[in-house]
Amino acid sequence: MKVLVYSAKEFEIPFLEKENKGKFKITFIEDALTSETAMKAVGFDAICIFSGDTASNIVLEKLKDFGVKYIALRSAGYDNVNLLTAKKLNIKVANVPAYSPYAIAEHAASLLLALNRKLIESNRRVKRYNFNLNNLIGFDLNNKTVGIVGTGKIGAIMAKIMNGFGCNLIGYDIEENKELKRNYKLKYVSLQNLCEQADIITLHLPLNKDTFHLIDEEKIEAMKPGVIIINTARGAVLNTEHILNALENKKIGALGIDVYENEKEIFFKDLSNNIPNDNLLLKLNAMPNVLITGHHAYLTAEALSNIAETTINNLESWSSGKVNINEL
Ligand code: NAI
Repeated sequence: MKVLVYSAKEFEIPFLEKENKGKFKITFIEDALTSETAMKAVGFDAICIFSGDTASNIVLEKLKDFGVKYIALRSAGYDNVNLLTAKKLNIKVANVPAYSPYAIAEHAASLLLALNRKLIESNRRVKRYNFNLNNLIGFDLNNKTVGIVGTGKIGAIMAKIMNGFGCNLIGYDIEENKELKRNYKLKYVSLQNLCEQADIITLHLPLNKDTFHLIDEEKIEAMKPGVIIINTARGAVLNTEHILNALENKKIGALGIDVYENEKEIFFKDLSNNIPNDNLLLKLNAMPNVLITGHHAYLTAEALSNIAETTINNLESWSSGKVNINEL
């Protein structure tokens, strides 16, 4: 089976090669999958994509024409693939459902700690031997209420971590996780109540038609002044413009994001000599109480190794005609 890996990043290639052990003929390219780059898949049986690649209707139709039969996602989220069209075209799609919920939840916790305790500003001062502590006050996490929106695999680990800090946990999800209720006394509430009660809100939902712009001005209105919002899920779960307004009028105390609504075309590239013309991002980036990382929550050795292992297993199931348990 010949496999074309789109959006291949230098750091992940060794993990995929190690796991492949020469089983598949893999070609790595840096290009993201788009309607223009789809033709690079001519002659390949399978393609392997990540969150910045787009498998829309038109792209899938092209891939079908070029003979592509399988799409192996190197991600858990699959909002970038039109699954209905893929099914219609008989292109099989599989993801990596759980490569390391710890990596993401720990990153979400890192964003929270760095923002609350103003670590970036503190370190910036110390680098210049300025040991002044003015305006560096944070708050104890102990006894604060953390609202976990989406209590699936990653949200559950976030609950465990925040429970360790002595926080009170409330959650919102369409499905309740009894273990979280039992182990960490997490209480399920409506999203409205969660917004009203939480000192910190952390998002761990997939992006779909129901979660698109789930957090908008109406929800922000209900929130406590000074609330900290953390988003490691998908950018468009937040209405970023509404979030920016609320940061400007100081309703939101701080924002930590690893994902950004318009991250396609921007994230995963070095644009330091070609700063993106994206006003929203420029404004957010200029704020001291906003901490942005470039979709790197998944970047741990364990996660990369698990991604590679499951990706190769997905390809192996298809090539040997076995049932692929990760098929979407
Ligand atoms: P999961 O499927 O285990 O959990 C998602 C939870 O969201 C489930 O409990 C589900 O019931 C709930 N949910 C779905 N739709 C909902 C709705 N409309 N309202 C309320 N709850 C809803 O997924 P997991 O592994 O926890 O990942 C969550 C998301 O995190 C992924 O979909 C992905 O977009 C994002 N992610 C981000 C990464 C990063 O590097 N920043 C890496 C991995 C995942």
